[in-house]
Amino acid sequence: MLAPMEDVSDPPFRALCKEQGADVVYTEFISSEGLIRDAAKSVMKLDIYEKERPVGIQIFGAELESMLQSVEIVEKTGPDIIDINFGCPVKKVVCKGAGAGILKDVDKMVALTDAMVKHTKLPITVKTRLGWDHDSIKIVEVAERLQDVGAKSIAIHGRTRAQMYKGEADWAPIAEVKNNPRMHIPVFGNGDVNTPEKAMEMRDRYGLDGAMIGRASIGYPWFFREVKHYFKTGEHLSPPTLSERIQAARRHLQMAIDWKGEKLGVFETRRHYTNYFKGIPHFKEYRMKMVTSDAAKDVFAVFDEVEELFGDYEFV
Ligand SMILES: Cc1cc2nc3c(=O)[nH]c(=O)nc-3n(C[C@H](O)[C@H](O)[C@H](O)COP(=O)(O)O)c2cc1C
Repeated sequence: MLAPMEDVSDPPFRALCKEQGADVVYTEFISSEGLIRDAAKSVMKLDIYEKERPVGIQIFGAELESMLQSVEIVEKTGPDIIDINFGCPVKKVVCKGAGAGILKDVDKMVALTDAMVKHTKLPITVKTRLGWDHDSIKIVEVAERLQDVGAKSIAIHGRTRAQMYKGEADWAPIAEVKNNPRMHIPVFGNGDVNTPEKAMEMRDRYGLDGAMIGRASIGYPWFFREVKHYFKTGEHLSPPTLSERIQAARRHLQMAIDWKGEKLGVFETRRHYTNYFKGIPHFKEYRMKMVTSDAAKDVFAVFDEVEELFGDYEFV
């Protein structure tokens, strides 16, 4: 599954990941307060397309009333899943008791999930972290309670809020959730899956129902097909050729422009270029041009130039 990632998991990127084998994709998190105020930025994030199904829309918030109203708004756009973000570690979210902030009040987390499940016919799923900090990890109990009020699956990032993104994700507590004999909903693992071997380990060693993949896919939507190929054959698929990469970068940029206009489209696609072209020697000059050009035509021109200059480059 493609993980929800702010300013990354937008429709163009989700489309590319889907084409490359992601089975389920999630939108970036969307503020329930933004949605109920009809804030344009939040509402735009609700755009989903037939070709990307099944797609989950992720929302966050701490106020029951706003979350329920948001469920009604989200429902109208017809996603396959509504996901609740109980994992965002960012201060401005946490300090309002949303995202990972709710890990300090598990009763509220369960009550919010319960009310949302009852408010919609769509499946409600949850994404969370191991706990607030190392000393307060109760994820086995928390997951069971979320299941008991009707969450249809749970995705767990193997870090606490206190860890933010530091250190290594710990998958053992996620496996404990899965191994709880009372647990029957799918349990998905998240955090640091950046090689096909790690995805395999999540499945075979930790027994999880699937992997939710975030950073490894940024600028590298081929990661999904590489994982699937490895599962099927035990071998590594050759990396995409330069022309495949250029083609993806062109389509990505064009879809982004079509979706949100030239200015934002050009700006928000930039973060993918490093990985699209990772490994090419002496590439800095071209990457710099890609990420500093404001006009789409200039970026497309760099793509053409790169294709001509590095067309024969063999990625390993
Ligand atoms: C740029 C970025 C934005 C993110 N935005 C969200 C988000 O909107 N919702 C969410 O649940 N998690 C978000 N996350 C967390 C990821 O979904 C995921 O839990 C985390 O990156 C660990 O997985 P990974 O090691 O595969 O990247 C974000 C992560 C990154 C790097």
